[in-house]
Amino acid sequence: MSEHALFQDVIRKRRSVRKFEAGRSISRDVLQRIVDCGRWAPSGANVQCWDFIVVDDPAVRDRVMAVFLRQAQRLVDHAKGFPAVKKTYLANTIAIIFVLGDPRWKACFPQATTEEWDAEYRANNEAIFLCSLGAAIQNIQLGVAAESLTSAWLSGGGEDKTNRELAEVLGYPTWMKAYGTIPIGTAAIAGLSDNCCIGTAISHANTGSTRKSISTKARSAPSPCIATTKP
Ligand SMILES: Cc1cc2nc3c(=O)[nH]c(=O)nc-3n(C[C@H](O)[C@H](O)[C@H](O)COP(=O)(O)O)c2cc1C
Repeated sequence: MSEHALFQDVIRKRRSVRKFEAGRSISRDVLQRIVDCGRWAPSGANVQCWDFIVVDDPAVRDRVMAVFLRQAQRLVDHAKGFPAVKKTYLANTIAIIFVLGDPRWKACFPQATTEEWDAEYRANNEAIFLCSLGAAIQNIQLGVAAESLTSAWLSGGGEDKTNRELAEVLGYPTWMKAYGTIPIGTAAIAGLSDNCCIGTAISHANTGSTRKSISTKARSAPSPCIATTKP
């Protein structure tokens, strides 16, 4: 396979799987390679505003699962309507990687020198921070896929209560936050459907009329993914 075909294959293999085969294991070398993918992620001002925690001890994993079972129950109780997934599948993970955000690095992003611009730059600092963490999470998921393993992306650790409970189990300070929780395992299901993007369009034109027609299309039909408009 050519390099680009291999890359496309990994991109397509990175799917959210929430059902893992029991009794699997992997070496720490593999886990190290996966975490290194996160280290190579781009970040605002190259500050690498993350810390990674890797859990492969079954006893700690079970305590983490208990945290997420409570988190899922809170969703059922207080965020009704959102399709909460039972997190018992975490019992079959080989490892769980946490991507923690360290907010101190925001000080390295653009800072307003007058009060008038403070809100503007503060808001964008938050965006830069979160996007950087998303890049690290995505890189780790791609690293997992490249090892022919599978993973999911859990955002519940970003909820205050869940984060406090995770901090207690994993021993990190509560001013850091587990924005990404990535359970890793061997998929116990095969043949996920094609993940064609809903409402995503790429436009190569910049006329108002083109943008409008693409976004209308994207809203109404799940099928078109890429709209290429010739100049
Ligand atoms: C920011 C973000 C937060 C997500 N949070 C969760 C989550 O809490 N639980 C979960 O099961 N999946 C979560 N997902 C996974 C999405 O549901 C999943 O990526 C999407 O449905 C597309 O499926 P795919 O990953 O198989 O392509 C999250 C994804 C992103 C990017």
